[in-house]
Parts: sequence; structure tokens; C-alpha cells
Amino acid sequence: MTLFRGTFLDTPDSPFKGHHLRAEADAAIYVRDGVIVARGPAEAILRNHPDDEVVDLRHGLVLPGFVDTHVHFPQVRVIGGLGMPLLDWLEKCALPEEARLADTSYAAGVAADFLGGLARAGTTTALVFGSHFAGAVDAMFAEAARIGLRVTSGLVLSDRILREDLFTDPDRAYAEGSALARRWHGTGRSRYAVTPRFSLSCSDGLLESAGALLADVPNAFFTSHINENPEEIRGVRDLFGCDYATSYDKHGLLGPRSVLAHDVHPTRGELRLMRERGVAVAHCPTSNAALGSGMFPLGAHLAYGVRVALGSDVGAGTGFSLFKEALQAYFNQQLLGREGHRLGVSHLLHLATAAGAEALGLAGVTGDLSVGKEFDALWLSPAPGTTLDVALRHADSPDDALAKAFALAGPADVRGTWVAGTPIRQQLSRAGHPQDR
Ligand code: GUN
Ligand code: ZN
Repeated sequence: MTLFRGTFLDTPDSPFKGHHLRAEADAAIYVRDGVIVARGPAEAILRNHPDDEVVDLRHGLVLPGFVDTHVHFPQVRVIGGLGMPLLDWLEKCALPEEARLADTSYAAGVAADFLGGLARAGTTTALVFGSHFAGAVDAMFAEAARIGLRVTSGLVLSDRILREDLFTDPDRAYAEGSALARRWHGTGRSRYAVTPRFSLSCSDGLLESAGALLADVPNAFFTSHINENPEEIRGVRDLFGCDYATSYDKHGLLGPRSVLAHDVHPTRGELRLMRERGVAVAHCPTSNAALGSGMFPLGAHLAYGVRVALGSDVGAGTGFSLFKEALQAYFNQQLLGREGHRLGVSHLLHLATAAGAEALGLAGVTGDLSVGKEFDALWLSPAPGTTLDVALRHADSPDDALAKAFALAGPADVRGTWVAGTPIRQQLSRAGHPQDR
């Protein structure tokens, strides 16, 4: 049993439905077996539990652990390849590195870098785009289980367009995917996601095999890319003779456990279809900016009732921090002027936490710090004298403090992350988490 004492900010009720930020200063959260069993003013909670360990998080802010709904495990070492549109970037930057993960021991090193990067950024739950190689996906699941993160992931599938050493075929894709799902789906905090790379690089036969696996693994997720780049979208129409969303839907791949990344250029018909199927979209703002993919039409998604959460899209995205993704989402909507959807700081926190939990079917488990949820949290506690430290000390309200956090915070300011009440930093393979200072 542990008491966490600090200032807790979260969004249990959606700001997109008119609700406000929940903020409790000098409060305590009481955690038993990883689950929040009580919360309230620190004095009262501490009085009721005089003998339990108290973790003092009073310097800074405590937020729900971030939920990243789209991030590529094999791309952690190629972050920062700027100046190219999607298809050039894939060929020159991402795919040569992804091919190296054929070597499972190389992949294990990448998995440690990747999951350490997520945890250090305050991300506790992620829908992870895996590797084209089953051994690499297995290594990533194993490392996630070892350090305790909540990961949904799967084998990435392609059989055309990309370099040939990344190709599979429908039978092999089904066999390797079902073996991975048997090993990891529902094991601890891990779950399986059927993951064709994008329909541009998948034949109908491969997508059909993906649909069969999705139907055969109860409650498995589906994830892929959609409508990211005009050249890619034209290619999909030429190959399939239909719109991008339909290329997945005709193989039974769209439903309430489907998460599609980007959707920068949807048609109205696709938005309608996504709403009907209950699909969620992972909005990846720094990636969209870095690859020049375009401005995400957030207002149209909301107007059609399509669920939206945030993804870092590392390595096209420029880092693991959902503080930065949320800030870029805000910038983009500002830059769209009257076409943009006005976002306040509570919207940003919601997108980075509860909206992601909802998209991943984990709203009963994580995403906010309510009684009954597991204690997944990040402690934002900047080093003394940093601009963020100064800003937080001079914030005049919780909303103001949170705005300063989104403007200024990065992974170096995240001093601790917990999943189900357990500190993740103890499990990281390399030292140097700021919580140790
Ligand atoms: N479309 C297909 N593969 C990728 C990828 O790795 N990154 C992004 N941003 N888009 C993709
Ligand atoms: Zn992606």
C-alpha cells in the first residue's frame, strides 16, 4: 500500500464535451495492489493511513501516464530525418534501419532504447507499430513485459512496393502472427495488434489474411496508416480502385478496436465510414509537420464523431514526448485560423491521456487518476532553475501551470513514471532516469 502526495491534474470527463480540468493541490492518492482506492486532501488521507509509505511528489505536477496511440519501435534510432516527404523518407531513412531488425539481437537493443524512450517521456501505455520480423516483435514484447509498460503491438506486414527483404506472404503472415498472439495477447499488460504497414504495401491477399487473423484472435486490435500523403493516397486508389478506408474495410479490418494513424486527407465518405465502424484516429502532429504531410482536420473528425487520440509517430515524429505532440496539435489548429478547432490546455491533456486510453479500449484501467483506475502516472518535476521550474512556480492557476508544462516540458523534466503503482525507472536497463538524481 502506497500513498502518493502531490498536485494531481487529469481529465476524467472530456473537455470536448464541455468539462473542465480536474486539479487537486496538496492531495494524496492511496494505491493498493496497483489500483487507486482513495484520493482527496492530503491531510485527511494521511491521517487515515498513518502507517503506509508516502511518496512525496509535491515538487511539480502529477499527471496520468501518457498514452501514445501510434509509435514505431524500429525507428527510435532514425529520429530526425528531416526534409523528405513520406515515400522518400521511408526508402532513405526508415526502411534501411527496419531491415537491420532481421538480426534479433540487434532488435533487442533497439527495443531497450525504444521502451526506455517511451518511459522516460512519461508514456505508460502505447499502441506500438512492430517490426517486419517476428523475432524482433517477440523481443520488444519481452522487454515491455520486463519493464512493465502497457503495450499493444504486432508483426508488420508488407508484400509489395517496399524493399523485398521486408516482404512476407499471406500464409506466413498468418502463422507468425498467430504464434505471436498466442504468446503475448492477454499476457500481463501485452495485447496483439494485427498490423499491415499500409494498404499501399499490401496485396488484397495479405489484407485478407490480416482480416482472418483479426477474426481469429478474440479482442485483438488492428492498426495501420491512412490518408497521410497525396502521392500515397493516389497509389492506393490506383491499386485498389477505392478509397483508402474501404481498402481496409473490405477485408473486415475496421471496427471499434481499430486505430488508423494520420488521416490528414480524408473524404467525407471515409469519415462517415470510420464513424460507423467506431474506428479511432491517431493524430501525429510533429510527423505531419516534419514530412510535410499536411494539416490534420481535427474539426471534421469531431464533427463526424470520429474518435481522435495522439501519436508521436517516432521516427517520422520528432520524439517521444506527448507534451510536444500536444503542443504541435495546438499550433496546427491555431494556424488553420477559422478552419481550426480551438484547443485549450485541458483538451491537450485529454488527447495525451484519456482519449488514448479510450481509443485503446483501456478507459476502465488508465487515462486518469480516478478511484478504481490503476495508478499510471508521470511526475513532472523540473530541475531547479530551469525555465519550466520558474514558470511552474509563477503559475497562477492549475490551467496556467498545465499550459506552461505543455509549452516547456520535455522528457528531461519527467522525474518518474509509474504503471499500476510500480516505478518504471527501476526496471530500465540503463541508468540515468532523472528520478535518480
Ligand atoms: N506509412 C507506412 N509506413 C510508415 C511509417 O513508418 N511512418 C509513417 N509516418 N507513415 C508510414
Ligand atoms: Zn506511422
